[in-house]
Amino acid sequence: LKNNEIFLYSNTEMAMMYLTKCSPRSLYHSILYSSSTLYLCWNYLTDAVREGRNQHERAFGVSSGDLFGAVYRSDEEMLSFMQLMNSIWNICGEDVVMAFDLSPFKTIYDLGGCSGALARRCLTAYPGCCVTIFDLPKVVRMSREHFISQEDEGISFFEGDFFRDPLPEADLYILARILHDWTDSRSLELLTKVYQRCKTGGGVLLVEALLHEDNSGPLTAQLYSLNMLVQTEGRERKTSEYAALLTAAGFAHIQVRRTGKIYDAILATK
Ligand SMILES: C[S@@+](CC[C@H](N)C(=O)[O-])C[C@H]1O[C@@H](n2cnc3c(N)ncnc32)[C@H](O)[C@@H]1O
Repeated sequence: LKNNEIFLYSNTEMAMMYLTKCSPRSLYHSILYSSSTLYLCWNYLTDAVREGRNQHERAFGVSSGDLFGAVYRSDEEMLSFMQLMNSIWNICGEDVVMAFDLSPFKTIYDLGGCSGALARRCLTAYPGCCVTIFDLPKVVRMSREHFISQEDEGISFFEGDFFRDPLPEADLYILARILHDWTDSRSLELLTKVYQRCKTGGGVLLVEALLHEDNSGPLTAQLYSLNMLVQTEGRERKTSEYAALLTAAGFAHIQVRRTGKIYDAILATK
């Protein structure tokens, strides 16, 4: 109260939509993770650029020899990461699953499917399919506890390590924000495994933030690439780089759809 004037403050429409915890499009968890974890890695951006590697050791005192061992260094960190992963698909999920007609693919494995948010979007768009979330055992446990309930019909889980364990056979494999975590050689190793297990006529759907061919943007993809530098072994790539990896793994008929949002989709078939 100043000179008998009353000042009232309230959220703007945009703040209500994206910043409040209860909104279905909330980015609350994304912001929380950025401030409590990601930003601590960004403190060492210059070291990351000089050394060309992530900064888990400096930021948190943990070795990143096992990348997701470092990312999931406590149950609290793992849940916080999964909430981050979960939140974006409330905003971009429909766009990426509808970028192509995926209805011919009935058996779908979401490799590194995490909280299951994209699997849920997929089932809403294609009620006739079955989606299995393939992820590390402790992630599957957390997903069952916090994200996917009995009512999510059509979604099941498969515990495994996609580098070490055999992959189950499927019509379609979704790799959403997976290859951006890894080097070209690890990405090719994984895509080759996927190709070998994929049914003939089946395919792989990559969901990533695509860089322009001359690396001039989009700004979000460039910033995400720096996130990858400070936190993972990978980077964001251009369409031609994903196409080269897919071709080397054996896939053909590579199609790209830009969604106009953060994440784009690439479909390749066997
Ligand atoms: C960046 S997150 C992407 C999550 C999800 N696809 C999404 O877009 O929301 C990477 C996912 O890969 C999983 N992952 C990492 N290494 C893995 C491995 N060796 N085997 C299976 N899943 C793995 C992580 O647990 C995590 O869920």
